[in-house]
Amino acid sequence: MLNIALPKGRLGERVYAMFEKAGFACPSIRENNRKLIFENEECGVRYFWVKPSDVAIYVERGAADIGVAGKDILLEYQPDVYELLDLHTGVCRMAVAAMAGFRDDVRRRLRVATKFAGIAEQHYASLGREIDIIHLNGSIEIAPILGLSDVIVDIVETGTTLRENNLEVVETIVDISARLIANKANFKFKNEPIERLVASLSAQIEENR
Ligand code: PRP
Repeated sequence: MLNIALPKGRLGERVYAMFEKAGFACPSIRENNRKLIFENEECGVRYFWVKPSDVAIYVERGAADIGVAGKDILLEYQPDVYELLDLHTGVCRMAVAAMAGFRDDVRRRLRVATKFAGIAEQHYASLGREIDIIHLNGSIEIAPILGLSDVIVDIVETGTTLRENNLEVVETIVDISARLIANKANFKFKNEPIERLVASLSAQIEENR
């Protein structure tokens, strides 16, 4: 049985459709209920819906053999897993943003509001810029508006949230997309189905490019 952790939400549903096409169908997953675990013995597959930021934990600890996680989560938490494939979906970028017209005063420490403290710290360390991290859990865009921070480090997808809050991108830190990840030990034990899945997903990605 191949155990697969999927990120709950739109990205997970899109990715499941790719897995289904690869021969790992589990029709019960499309039933409209609040179940979180779905199994199809015929295809030898079991899916779990988990919070997107938790997928890497399930995979790292072997509760799931493989899973789909955003590159943002992999960079932030650096789980000890194999990154097998860029799925070229869930595409967005990690960026620094600020109120329109913002000027950095280098004499002062920069106050950075973010959910991604690790990525922000690494980015500013590489620039030699001293910062104070203000760790928030969501609605990060509010911080500079209320004067809680000078800038934010956050995910930008369409840019709508920034625009509608009078913020703009200062710089892009890194491009993000969804990645197929595998538990290191289970990758060896369950190599055949995992390689079969990777081959089909790669072909699907090529087709869609
Ligand atoms: C993410 C991110 C931005 C928004 C960017 O928030 O934190 O707020 O999406 O998308 P856009 O560029 O298309 O507007 P999410 O919906 O994950 O909620 P959050 O406030 O909990 O971060």
